Amino acid sequence: MKRIKIAPSILSADFSCLDREIKRSEEAGADMLHIDVMDGHFVPNITIGPVVVKYIRKVTRLPLDVHLMIEEPEKFIADFVKAGSDMLTVHIETISSSKLKALSLKLKAKQIKLGISLNPATPLERIKGALKFVDFVLVMSVNPGFSGQEFIPSVIPKIKKLRSIFKGDIAVDGGVNDKVAAKLINAGANVLAAGSYLFGAKDMLAALGKIRNA
Ligand code: DX5
Ligand code: ZN
Repeated sequence: MKRIKIAPSILSADFSCLDREIKRSEEAGADMLHIDVMDGHFVPNITIGPVVVKYIRKVTRLPLDVHLMIEEPEKFIADFVKAGSDMLTVHIETISSSKLKALSLKLKAKQIKLGISLNPATPLERIKGALKFVDFVLVMSVNPGFSGQEFIPSVIPKIKKLRSIFKGDIAVDGGVNDKVAAKLINAGANVLAAGSYLFGAKDMLAALGKIRNA
């Protein structure tokens, strides 16, 4: 069985003291930091860009898992690479297979991991052709755009089906907490991104342990 990795999603952090929030994640045992990039087009919200990633890079050695919820992601890849991303995820709804293939070659040469994500309403069939180009899949379990939304349980069969055809990491993002973590891990997910559940916890170490060991 794959090791379970936990990725605190900093969209739920207190941005007035982001360095302390990152330290809190490190001390809680985070395996990476999940960073949500939104453009107000692909999703109805605007968050952060490469400049913030660049400064986060300065304060932590945790791998930076950058989730691009943006149109035309290929236009911004170079900036996020330069900013210090270790992992980049693009949405299948935003990229053609030829662009994805080119992107995978580019990132491989830089030893950056590439992920493909799909929205809850997007069928697994949509990413089948993409699986050979990516290191991991990020299954959305809420409609992307905001932290603190409720987990959509119909993604569980999707994770199970994906696990039967894909050997790489399967990450789940959206509404992850101690109540759903066991179901996700049993379905075959091995990376859990969690925002409000972790940053909202008084004791992040305990909260993180609860989902890791679910
Ligand atoms: C949703 C983002 C998620 C979100 C997770 O669009 O991609 O990463 O911040 O937050 P929670 O865990 O609160 O749903
Ligand atoms: Zn995310």
